[in-house]
Amino acid sequence: MGHRSETSLWWQTGVIYQIYPRSFQDSNGDGTGDLNGITQRLDYLAETLGVDAIWLSPFYPSPMKDFGYDITNYLDVDPIFGTLEDFDRLVAEAHARDLQIIVDFVPNHTSEEHPWFQESRSSRGNQRREWYVWRDPSPDGGPPNNWLAVPGGSAWELDEHTGQYYLHSFLKEQPDLNWRNPLVEDAMFDVLRFWLERGVDGFRIDMAQRILKDPDFRDNPPDTSSDRPYKSLGRYDSQLHVYDQGHPDIHAVYRRVRHLLDSYSSSRPRMAGGEIHIFDYSQWASYYGIELDELHLPFNFGLIGVPWEAAAVRRVVDSIEGVMRPGSWPNYVLGNHDEHRIATRAGEAQARVAMMLLLTLRGTPTVYYGDELGMTDVPIPAERIQDPWERTEPGLGLGRDPERTPMQWDASPNSGFCPPEARPWLPISENCGRVNVQQEYDDAGSMLSLARTLLTLRRQHPSLHLGSYHPVELGESPCFAYWREEGDERHLVALNFTGESQNLHIPNGGGGRLRLSTTNPDSDLVVDLARLTLSPNEGCIVDLRGR
Ligand code: NOJ
Repeated sequence: MGHRSETSLWWQTGVIYQIYPRSFQDSNGDGTGDLNGITQRLDYLAETLGVDAIWLSPFYPSPMKDFGYDITNYLDVDPIFGTLEDFDRLVAEAHARDLQIIVDFVPNHTSEEHPWFQESRSSRGNQRREWYVWRDPSPDGGPPNNWLAVPGGSAWELDEHTGQYYLHSFLKEQPDLNWRNPLVEDAMFDVLRFWLERGVDGFRIDMAQRILKDPDFRDNPPDTSSDRPYKSLGRYDSQLHVYDQGHPDIHAVYRRVRHLLDSYSSSRPRMAGGEIHIFDYSQWASYYGIELDELHLPFNFGLIGVPWEAAAVRRVVDSIEGVMRPGSWPNYVLGNHDEHRIATRAGEAQARVAMMLLLTLRGTPTVYYGDELGMTDVPIPAERIQDPWERTEPGLGLGRDPERTPMQWDASPNSGFCPPEARPWLPISENCGRVNVQQEYDDAGSMLSLARTLLTLRRQHPSLHLGSYHPVELGESPCFAYWREEGDERHLVALNFTGESQNLHIPNGGGGRLRLSTTNPDSDLVVDLARLTLSPNEGCIVDLRGR
């Protein structure tokens, strides 16, 4: 299975590393990370770790109600993160190290403080009224329909002054733009041009499937199923979200986005990635476009909500492989700023197996900052909660602070993230004395060493960064194994998802050399795949070339 694409591009063979700018490196001692901090750490990313691209979560001016996903100016840098000159320097320094820069593009909503919305809400007759989604109240004076905001409550907020409701798919401070208005598309395409001209290599499109809704604003039907491929979002899960997102007209917009990016790609390829929360994979794959002329990488969140078991994980991978058409390219996300960290979801031992999985599957991996160290969720005391989602559906744990805590660089107070006397915007993990870059760099058995070796192997071997994927039938085994093949290279990846040792029989395997194990530092052993024993929580890569 798996089709090799004609040409291999950076966003296919490379590894994307997600940086949450508030939490990566503070360069000015205010306890919040910034662009200059990221620039200071580029050698870590390019040399020590060896990733190929960095995706920066939003750094644009914002009142920070949703920590930058509520933007007041798409064409600038929030002073807390620096200046446009700092951004330009970051791009230049990254490119000098062959690192690509992906920025977040947030098309679905602005901040309520964006001048566009300020104008729009000023009167029904304002020239920007139709830039947002305004509706009259329903006959009983309530919201126009039953749509719900993702973080909880109605998706409609009454504007007393003009007597209409505006739509907000997220917080009420984040009004949805009206993409049915061509002026909105023009303005937002100017935003893309602005950053392309500043040299960015790609975009991660926030909530890409949201921008066009049912033009008739029909009520969503109830969702009565109990089958959840993703985490529970409380009341939001009571509906099937068929009318409040993903209207088919959306594909024409992404074709135009792609066309715009292509027009900038003669010097070097630019990439459109998008957040697509769809778990019906053929529907998810529609965002590649029928002619593969929409998103290069609709981000695939299948590994986020899946129970951490071999069979379930394999089902996700095989489903993704099953919907790939020649020329389309898979991708996998294991963690991000909205999800509990993998080392918390699966446990520290399995986080190593997960890293091996992520970096050896066919397709582009996205690594969330700190996951390469095995960082875990940090419990946040009530008085330090920052994320409003913690409070929109109390008790459900929707707050995302635990996975957004500062990067752990060393064992000093504040872990090298900010000066010892500063107060980091979120608490730093108590495990930072053990789980940090400096400590792990010198420890051959650390998660960082494992991640570095995996990244090196992946880069060295075409079978691992380009090759085809073939799952191995293992019956009822709680392990997952697959071949990656390219030319005369063959690698077997075998992953034990349990805390007990497991014996595997790999049909037609023969003998090979152990290249890497998550538990056994003794690489280069010769192994017999007819009788392969995986120790508890062991993942291994076996090289069969030239056997
Ligand atoms: C998805 C982002 O990843 C999340 O952090 C944000 O809250 C929502 N989109 C709204 O922009």
